[in-house]
Amino acid sequence: MLKQYLLTPGPTPVPERIMLAMARPIVHHRMPAFTTSFNEAAEGLKWLFQTKQPVLMLAGSGTLAMEAAVVNTMKKGDKALCVVGGKFGERWRNICKAYGIEFVELTVEWGKAVDPELVKKALDADDKITAVFSQANESSTGVRHPVEAIAKLTASRERVINVVDAVSALGAFDLPMDQAGFDVLITGSQKALMLPPGQAYIALSDKAWARTESADLPRFYSDLKRERKAQAGGETAWTPAVTLTVGLVEALRMIKEEGLQECFARHAKLAKATRAAALALGCTLFAPDAPSPTVTAVNGPGGLDTGKLVKQLRDKYGVSITGGQDAVKGKIFRVAHLGYFDTFDILTSVTAIEMALNDLGVKVTRGAGTAAAEAVLEAGPNAK
Ligand SMILES: Cc1ncc(COP(=O)(O)O)c(C=O)c1O
Repeated sequence: MLKQYLLTPGPTPVPERIMLAMARPIVHHRMPAFTTSFNEAAEGLKWLFQTKQPVLMLAGSGTLAMEAAVVNTMKKGDKALCVVGGKFGERWRNICKAYGIEFVELTVEWGKAVDPELVKKALDADDKITAVFSQANESSTGVRHPVEAIAKLTASRERVINVVDAVSALGAFDLPMDQAGFDVLITGSQKALMLPPGQAYIALSDKAWARTESADLPRFYSDLKRERKAQAGGETAWTPAVTLTVGLVEALRMIKEEGLQECFARHAKLAKATRAAALALGCTLFAPDAPSPTVTAVNGPGGLDTGKLVKQLRDKYGVSITGGQDAVKGKIFRVAHLGYFDTFDILTSVTAIEMALNDLGVKVTRGAGTAAAEAVLEAGPNAK
């Protein structure tokens, strides 16, 4: 028997409590039993997004909400500014391309955060730009982008909205939608919300809702105006992911019980412990200047092909973490601390990495990473 440990940045582990809630018999989505769950989930999402706006639930993965953001807020002839510093930044560009939206690509070196000054310059240089698309957390590189600073730049520009993909961020660190001035904020079920994949969530500011009136790109399934109308009445336009909605109620209860700030502090502490462990193992961080609170990207020590490490961890120890993609394939590995993770998930990852590195001939001091992680984890969430 090889016990399996799912320690990836999505899908993330699903707590037993949520699994049990989802195991209950299915209910019809236009009957009171479902409406009660739906309304509780809708209220809870507003709390999580820290917004007065409705947060719409869509049946699909995070990319559906990304596509919905583009087709509901852009019109032919608009230009997009896409911050591209990883796989998910590329996705914004590719969605714009698919819908014939002209775009300016603000290329950011992988492992670095975007400089808001360059966003400002790009906006100043081209008044055809009507939206800035970025990631709060670029999962492929383990970078947290300064989306709050971008929101400040678009707030003073009447014609420009900011669209934030927070798929691997929301619920793990503070992204207060209304206070920060995010115009479109997106997340998905299989990350901080601790649910299986298949549901996406999107909220729009008044400024972004106004754009839906003139948006003229083709859309049907992801027509957000139609969804807003339906969801205001406790229903979705189409058959919702009933089971995930029931699970979402439980997930939001769990986060409420923990407390939002406490939940953010837990993620920050686990991230800090992971970074400390990586350094203690003699590795270097891929994104030391803007490290993500939800996934730590680490350079393969001594030029090790990190694909081998990921495979060794999975095949010998049953521990699933992720490697790098595209430009950093084989060069980095990524350790998650997102959603239903705590102290012993980090210690499992770190210990397994120590063992697998030694297996692969990379001499690391046994216990060095674990000791460094423990020192942070014991010290409590607010330890410096
Ligand atoms: C930052 C980010 N954006 C978007 C997505 C896409 O979400 P999905 O795979 O649910 O379509 C992901 C998924 O990993 C992500 O990490």
